[in-house]
Amino acid sequence: MRAVEFQEYGGPEVLKVVDRDVPEPGRGQVSIDVAYTGVNFADLKARAEGYRVDALPFRPGLEVSGRIRAVGADVEGLRPGQEVAALTDGGAYAEVVVTAAATVFPLPQGVSPRTGATLPTVLPTAHALVHEVGRLRAGETVLVQGAAGGIGTVAGQLAKAAGAGAVHGVVSDAAKARHALKYGYDEVFVGPDFAADVRRATGGRGVDLALDPVGGETFRRSMDALAVFGRLVSFGNASSAEPWQVGQPELYPWGRTVAGFSILALARTAPEALRALAGRAFRTVSEGSVELPVTAEFPLAEAGEAHRLLGSRKSTGKLLLRVG
Ligand SMILES: NC(=O)c1ccc[n+]([C@@H]2O[C@H](COP(=O)([O-])OP(=O)(O)OC[C@H]3O[C@@H](n4cnc5c(N)ncnc54)[C@H](OP(=O)(O)O)[C@@H]3O)[C@@H](O)[C@H]2O)c1
Repeated sequence: MRAVEFQEYGGPEVLKVVDRDVPEPGRGQVSIDVAYTGVNFADLKARAEGYRVDALPFRPGLEVSGRIRAVGADVEGLRPGQEVAALTDGGAYAEVVVTAAATVFPLPQGVSPRTGATLPTVLPTAHALVHEVGRLRAGETVLVQGAAGGIGTVAGQLAKAAGAGAVHGVVSDAAKARHALKYGYDEVFVGPDFAADVRRATGGRGVDLALDPVGGETFRRSMDALAVFGRLVSFGNASSAEPWQVGQPELYPWGRTVAGFSILALARTAPEALRALAGRAFRTVSEGSVELPVTAEFPLAEAGEAHRLLGSRKSTGKLLLRVG
């Protein structure tokens, strides 16, 4: 089978098509003939700086849609031929993937394989950020960094559907702002100097919930943008900045809470909690309250082009690799 791997860290050009044996599922696993693979920012960080890479060569990719090819021992409720979407522990840039049955989900009613490949990481993550971790209540105000990207596009819609009083986004250019305004955002600020915009938009109060995938200075400014009793959820470090230490002085005098979320950690440590979360999140798509637009699609062999586009900060919504 064909797969895409890298032997060394670097730019998109280090991604190479390779020929590999078709993997067989072990106990508790299934193999999937892949239709589409979703491209995530984490794939770029793996390629560029070794994020969550155990050894080289490494095959990136965290999510697929397709048909179950074979089922390993002790797997219940899944059968060969079934159309599914799945979260993988790496390795999704391939024609066949093997993954734990616990992170394989039958495609929701009315959801195509193309849309299915966009869901496994972004949708449960955005749901957790807004609901399970962010605990958004109706009427509260929200601030989302990276509002036009994969997570940002879904987080805006989920916050709006939850009855947020106002949903504010931050993006790096005006075209991205126009995209975000179609997906739940009331107002979108352009550029890193958003703190003053937030104060103005909230009458000086700040926001109740801020979601930060950027880290560094953006994380610190997001904290400053919180209202009293505000919550900040950190879920990435797109800026690759040195970790920023949160201390007592930033927290108790303001009644602030800082939380974190990682879907990969949840998949490894509490797969049943992830299954329940994914069930709730996928329902928002089958019910029609959330959509995730695919804005670009590349053949598997051109995975490097997908990385170039996502790394350029010009993409919106979700990028896919066409595999099957
Ligand atoms: N914790 C989790 O479970 C989890 C799960 C999925 C994704 N994530 C994180 O969520 C973020 C979004 O992921 P995604 O896959 O949906 O990607 P994405 O949002 O489609 O693309 C990455 C986004 O990062 C923003 N960004 C800010 N600073 C950047 C920088 N210095 N370089 C490049 N991009 C920068 C860009 O927005 P602007 O250009 O508008 O700033 C861009 O939209 C990533 O940080 C990812 O690691 C976390």
